[in-house]
Amino acid sequence: MVKDDALIFELSQKGRVGYSLPNAKKTQYQLNQFPSDLLRADLPALPEVSELDVIRHFTNISKKNFGVENGFYPLGSCTMKYNSKINEEIASLSVFNHLHPFQSVSTLQGVLKIYYDLANMLSNISGLDEFSLNPYAGAHGELSGLMIMKKYHEDRGDFKRTKVIVPDSAHGTNPASTAVCGMNVVEIASNSLGRIDLEALKAVLSDEIAGIMLTNPNTLGMFEPDILEIARLVHEAGGLLYYDGANLNALLGEVRPGDMGFDIMHINLHKTFSTPHGGGGPGSGPVGVTTMLKHLLPNPRVKNAGEYFYIEYNADAIGQISSFFGNFKVWLRAYVYILSLGKEHIKEIGPFATLNANYIKEHLKDDYYLRMEGFCMHECVFDGLVNQESGVKTLDVAKRLLDYGYHAPTIYFPLLFHQSIMIEPTETESKQTLDEFIAVMKQIALDAKENPELLKTAPHTTPIRRIDEVYAARKTILTYKDYLEQPK
Ligand SMILES: Cc1ncc(COP(=O)(O)O)c(C=O)c1O
Repeated sequence: MVKDDALIFELSQKGRVGYSLPNAKKTQYQLNQFPSDLLRADLPALPEVSELDVIRHFTNISKKNFGVENGFYPLGSCTMKYNSKINEEIASLSVFNHLHPFQSVSTLQGVLKIYYDLANMLSNISGLDEFSLNPYAGAHGELSGLMIMKKYHEDRGDFKRTKVIVPDSAHGTNPASTAVCGMNVVEIASNSLGRIDLEALKAVLSDEIAGIMLTNPNTLGMFEPDILEIARLVHEAGGLLYYDGANLNALLGEVRPGDMGFDIMHINLHKTFSTPHGGGGPGSGPVGVTTMLKHLLPNPRVKNAGEYFYIEYNADAIGQISSFFGNFKVWLRAYVYILSLGKEHIKEIGPFATLNANYIKEHLKDDYYLRMEGFCMHECVFDGLVNQESGVKTLDVAKRLLDYGYHAPTIYFPLLFHQSIMIEPTETESKQTLDEFIAVMKQIALDAKENPELLKTAPHTTPIRRIDEVYAARKTILTYKDYLEQPK
């Protein structure tokens, strides 16, 4: 019997079906395979809808979605680059759709070769010696990397090293991963240029420091020129350096974290190596290490003996951090992306991303407050409007951009400023797109002076206007309907 709570589905009509299938005859043998306490007593409460209802529902929702294929998506720290169709085409080949991790290894040779080759490509690109592709996201890569850092110290009997240095400009996942890993965060303040303050760093180095987490360029889009000195100081104090690879796009093919002195890193394949990643997934956060740490990489591992690939479980490893090997189809896209560009063209990504960010920065700096002078890398950060008299805030600017068909930049991050607007254009955007965006941002700055109410009440053209974000977070209403009035 279907429970009556099926009525919670707004489109559902009792008895309506999309398909009617013949009754599945379950033999006693099949049922006996499951423990009786795991067998459900009632049928699941599912929406009762026709195929047309379902198609309309999802088509209408998809039209309200916004992605890089709708328009410019300058979401700082997220590297929303265009994902070429060839990557998608390969990832959707039917040969890859029916793979199962419990298949015998002899039937998975091609897949294991892709794992192995991609891990090697990431090593060449990053300068770290060995990679595991198993983590499912950047933050998951961070956790895996920090577990490696912790175990490295513990295996040497050094249990005192429980503190991880994190600069105040870091992404929130850095301190969060540190805490989840059971270590303590030591925050250090950035200097007036938004970079690591060497004196502040020296002051916290001790025999309790397990390591430091850095992203370079940092979250202000600025390169840390003192990185070699930072690496020397941390290593001298017995700590390790962790590289948060979320900003790797700026350096791709040009500069390698391994050459800067980092011991552990993760790479966000879904950012730098082109997998669509709005809405939280799917992702992949491969974790890489230097030779000294490779025995600690998570299980299972993919190894080779000549042309034959096999799976290995290593007793020294931090353990298993994913159900099997990770998100295969994200690696596949990254693999195709890297092969399509080749060694020669990968080098062009960082410089073009950097050029685009500096182009925007230079054109907007009279209207939006730029605290850090000088070249930025792949993204630029403003601290709200130069003219603050109108009371127009960063949130209003972001909401007004939606009226022009742009995704808003990242706002109120990094936390170093009160009105952060973080713009990351990526190398896949043309000069025409950047010029149009700059013109709109300038118009918004002008409207802030002449017609601030227009901005304070924006957006005016989206299906849903400005929502009460606190209310929406606390009481999420999932519905297919457009609420013209905000529900109270
Ligand atoms: C600097 C930085 N580090 C780490 C992460 C976490 O990556 P993920 O969202 O893949 O978990 C992000 C995500 O935006 C980031 O910008």
